[in-house]
Amino acid sequence: MMHQANGLRGAVSSKAYDMNRVEEVNTYPVGSPFPRVIAVTSGKGGVGKTSIVANLAIAFRRLGKRVLILDGNLGLANIDIIFGLNPVHNIEHVISGEKDLAEVIVEGPEEISIIPAGSGVHELVHLTNGQKLHLLNEFDTLNEDFDVLLIDTGAGISSNVIYFNIAAQERIVVATSEPSSITDTYTLIKVIFTQHGTRSFKVLVNMVNNAEEGKSVFENLSNVSGNFLKDISLEYIGFISKDDKFQKAVKQRRTVSQLYPKSESSKGFFDLAQRLLNDSMNRSSDGNIKFFWRKLVRRH
Ligand SMILES: Nc1ncnc2c1ncn2[C@@H]1O[C@H](COP(=O)(O)OP(=O)(O)OP(=O)(O)O)[C@@H](O)[C@H]1O
Ligand SMILES: [Mg+2]
Repeated sequence: MMHQANGLRGAVSSKAYDMNRVEEVNTYPVGSPFPRVIAVTSGKGGVGKTSIVANLAIAFRRLGKRVLILDGNLGLANIDIIFGLNPVHNIEHVISGEKDLAEVIVEGPEEISIIPAGSGVHELVHLTNGQKLHLLNEFDTLNEDFDVLLIDTGAGISSNVIYFNIAAQERIVVATSEPSSITDTYTLIKVIFTQHGTRSFKVLVNMVNNAEEGKSVFENLSNVSGNFLKDISLEYIGFISKDDKFQKAVKQRRTVSQLYPKSESSKGFFDLAQRLLNDSMNRSSDGNIKFFWRKLVRRH
């Protein structure tokens, strides 16, 4: 189903960006209610990013927030699968000029809006200046339509993953108790910090058996982060329990939050969404969507 987001189509601003001036500090007051942009990322694949984005999106919706998801996952665009969607167009068609942004945004469950990225996301870091300006203009009106932009970045240290992470104002790094997840998380954080100076990371531990396990994964991560830990901020934002309802939900192309709202993991997502919203007081104005896109396309 195509979703013609209000205020997007036709209302795309005529104001063009001057690429030489995108460094300009934006002037929104601190604490203003601009959308927050949260990248959900991981060092190792398969740790639950897409599931977390989908379930957090539902939790934010239930807390009254308007949610946009950018599927930044290369190859398998699995947000679509989790939500049971079959989008025809994706951001590639916006980049090529074939479609307006509003024409590619699809509506998922509970009025969650989704930008299917498909293979187009690969091109985001390899755009011409003209394409960058075009995309920025397309995204210009999004700030008014959404409260939260969640980005499923894919895993690892490829340039796409890194760019999404440094452009977003907040990063949720997903880890599990597997030793390789902890070392891959460390590598990702180290690359983002040492190469780009990004300092703050929120750590979410997924698929745990109990609260202690979540904490101990975080402690292990802090320990391996060793000597550069003093330069960065690693914040433990909690855990999501291992829950066999995930497999049942996946089979029905739904999320646990939709099918089993009373399950441990669904409650975990709801609590997490609430905590993240309560934390919003500390945010600065560069969390908004426009600023995210400017930073994203300016890279490279
Ligand atoms: N808390 C959980 N309990 C049980 N199963 C989970 C949990 N979180 C995720 N899963 C399952 O783990 C698998 C991987 O999850 P998901 O696809 O969300 O990971 P991902 O990090 O997005 O993977 P990729 O790196 O391939 O994009 C899925 O089958 C999902 O249902
Ligand atoms: Mg995924």
